[in-house]
Amino acid sequence: MERTFLMVKPDGVQRNLIGEIVNRFESKGYQLVGGKLMNITQELAEQHYGEHKERPFFGELVEFITSGPVFAMVWEGENVIPTARLMMGATNPKESAPGTIRGDFAVTVGKNIIHGSDSQESAVREIGLFFNENELVSYDKTMNNWIN
Ligand code: PPS
Repeated sequence: MERTFLMVKPDGVQRNLIGEIVNRFESKGYQLVGGKLMNITQELAEQHYGEHKERPFFGELVEFITSGPVFAMVWEGENVIPTARLMMGATNPKESAPGTIRGDFAVTVGKNIIHGSDSQESAVREIGLFFNENELVSYDKTMNNWIN
């Protein structure tokens, strides 16, 4: 089953959007297999955004993601990598459609609420950077009848 790494950035945590964002992916039909509130170290931020090292905003990117707690998550489900990106909306909030997370909640390009892996390769890399295998939980919700 496909997995992706999603992260509510410090602006999303500050604005109390963790619940709203988790709700969107749960309601869509995806399953949360890992999640934690954490501070990102300088070293982890530089590793995570390593591919953008040469870009002019690299320093800003690292400074922002280490500026406050983030909520890191792993989600599982059919086509979750591209579908989560669609649900997040375009990177630049100026171009993100209403109905998407960034379209509904973000205004500024750097402070765009959520990060999501953009490919299978990045998903594997980012999940490995943020989570140990024993922090990810595979489970079948149909196995127990707690609500009946
Ligand atoms: S994407 O979606 O990964 O293809 O977007 P990309 O344009 O490559 O941007 C990579 C990350 O950099 C952030 N970004 C910026 N931060 C600050 N200032 C400017 N101008 C800027 N442009 C892009 C963008 O939000 C991406 O962060 P993540 O966490 O990957 O979403």
